[in-house]
Amino acid sequence: MAVIEVHDLQRRFGSVQAVRGVNFEVKEGEIFAFLGPNGAGKSTTISMLATLLHPTAGTAKVAGFDIVREPDRVRHSIGIVFQDPTLDDRLTAEENLQFHALLYNVDSRIVKERVPKLLEMVELLDRRKSLVRTFSGGMKRRLEIARGLLHHPKVLFLDEPTIGLDPQTRARIWEYVRGLRDQEGITVFMTTHYMDEAEVCDRIAVIDHGQIVALGTPSELKALVGGDVITLAANDQEKARQFIAAQYGEPIVTPSGLQFEVTGGETIIPELVARCPTPVRAISLRKPTLDDVFLKLTGREIRDEPPQNHRPRMARIHGGR
Ligand SMILES: Nc1ncnc2c1ncn2[C@@H]1O[C@H](COP(=O)(O)OP(=O)(O)OP(=O)(O)O)[C@@H](O)[C@H]1O
Ligand SMILES: [Mg+2]
Repeated sequence: MAVIEVHDLQRRFGSVQAVRGVNFEVKEGEIFAFLGPNGAGKSTTISMLATLLHPTAGTAKVAGFDIVREPDRVRHSIGIVFQDPTLDDRLTAEENLQFHALLYNVDSRIVKERVPKLLEMVELLDRRKSLVRTFSGGMKRRLEIARGLLHHPKVLFLDEPTIGLDPQTRARIWEYVRGLRDQEGITVFMTTHYMDEAEVCDRIAVIDHGQIVALGTPSELKALVGGDVITLAANDQEKARQFIAAQYGEPIVTPSGLQFEVTGGETIIPELVARCPTPVRAISLRKPTLDDVFLKLTGREIRDEPPQNHRPRMARIHGGR
């Protein structure tokens, strides 16, 4: 069942077309990511889905409710962790959660029961009486996630949940997010520009200049690159080159050997080694990464500045519309 349905959603700020008509669905219990560079339109899309920003055109439903016609019902079905921190530094961890409960009209009995549970989940129970001002970046982020969960949302929006955090804290936040999905069946919509983070999501929409340029599971996206990358070193390089060129296309000569792309690399390797007309000294297989995908689709690294008048190429896999 689709928990988020988005049809031709658009948003313009003056002359800036921030989101240019995106279409996608997120299924119940899915961890879905928007992966894209700075200014791609990720936060703008989240803000529209969370009813904080009006779309210029298009429609979307979250948890079955229309984001324009039923914003209150949408708000009660979602939790959101913003890109920029929004905790009150002058309050304690516990007070921040209680204040949020007040805003959302959460029953006081439920608050009493749920606040300690959530603080325990994000390992902040022993710091519940500390002022947030005294927390590290990672602790604040964890508290924000706990706060986003207080009213038992169906969908959790996380805008760059781990940006600027150290690898250990990032890994820990990921544990919570996956745990939530597994234990509470929550649907997670997140944005990131970390490739390794997108890698562990169920599906990814690659967004660039306000448009989805590819949508699919990490392995589907990587399949767009064309296959596995094999590097082979042989006793007689020229003989090996001729053999590879005839079978798989002209290889690239690299310091570590001859490099070429194949599909289903694992099954090809034994045959390759057996049939190569000269003894194989070393062979390695590398799976394509999401970096390779982004590079192939947009012609740039994800952290590069966008070139002028760039038109992203469309490569849609099933799942989006
Ligand atoms: N309130 C606003 N007023 C004017 N322009 C805006 C506003 N919010 C966003 N934009 C513009 O819309 C485009 C998309 O911005 P958005 O914040 O959605 O990008 P993003 O993908 O979240 O980027 P980042 O990775 O840097 O967070 C940018 O060109 C940005 O300058
Ligand atoms: Mg953003």
